[in-house]
Amino acid sequence: MEANENKLITYLESLVPPRNEIVTKMEKLAQEDQVPIMDLVGMETLLQLLMLSQPKHILEIGAAIGYSAIRMAQSIPDVNIVTIERDEHRYLQAKEHIAEAGLEDRIDLIFGDALEVLEQVERKGVFDLIFVDAAKGQYERFFTMYEPLLIDSGVIITDNVLFRGLVAEDHEAIEPKRIRNLVKKIDRYNKWLMDHQDYITTILPVGDGIAISKKRGEKI
Ligand SMILES: C[S@@+](CC[C@H](N)C(=O)[O-])C[C@H]1O[C@@H](n2cnc3c(N)ncnc32)[C@H](O)[C@@H]1O
Repeated sequence: MEANENKLITYLESLVPPRNEIVTKMEKLAQEDQVPIMDLVGMETLLQLLMLSQPKHILEIGAAIGYSAIRMAQSIPDVNIVTIERDEHRYLQAKEHIAEAGLEDRIDLIFGDALEVLEQVERKGVFDLIFVDAAKGQYERFFTMYEPLLIDSGVIITDNVLFRGLVAEDHEAIEPKRIRNLVKKIDRYNKWLMDHQDYITTILPVGDGIAISKKRGEKI
């Protein structure tokens, strides 16, 4: 079963058209330095969702080296992105990549902990899409902190919600304890998200698991 899944992923990856020079460079860097950028099939799925929904203002929590922000900006020509990264080394790498891609006017990179820069982000206005891709144990806090900045018809997308399939395993059997606790937190987040009265959520078993939460727009 697992071998088939891996084969399928390799097949899907082989169908993805070649990326441009800067994107290819970032993919290579991420692989060499083990930077957890979005996997290729998940990234392509997210871009397709964006092309369908055509957001104009995106907030990304977790920029890493700027890969997903740059890919989103290159796919949607008139989108503006605010993205937050707390790791200084990655922030500086992202800054360099954004400049190299000529996207400084459309990608606003904030250095800091997303749990501490709300006021700074609030000054940027409202968003039609929020992409949550930072510390997995904090997903619910990111969601509740930033969802007030989402427009009524907006969407929140969360990556890694299936955490390599571990959410579907017997949690108590997962080692080490740190991973077990993380899996439990993600599982709780998924259930909380599915039960959220203000959002309709679907989880796609694509990449590392992508949750798409569409705001209902009015209280029910
Ligand atoms: C999975 S990576 C992001 C990958 C990126 N979205 C991409 O696909 O190219 C997660 C990043 O979030 C950052 N991060 C984790 N918790 C954070 C927080 N509370 N505030 C800001 N950044 C955070 C980490 O330093 C890491 O670089």
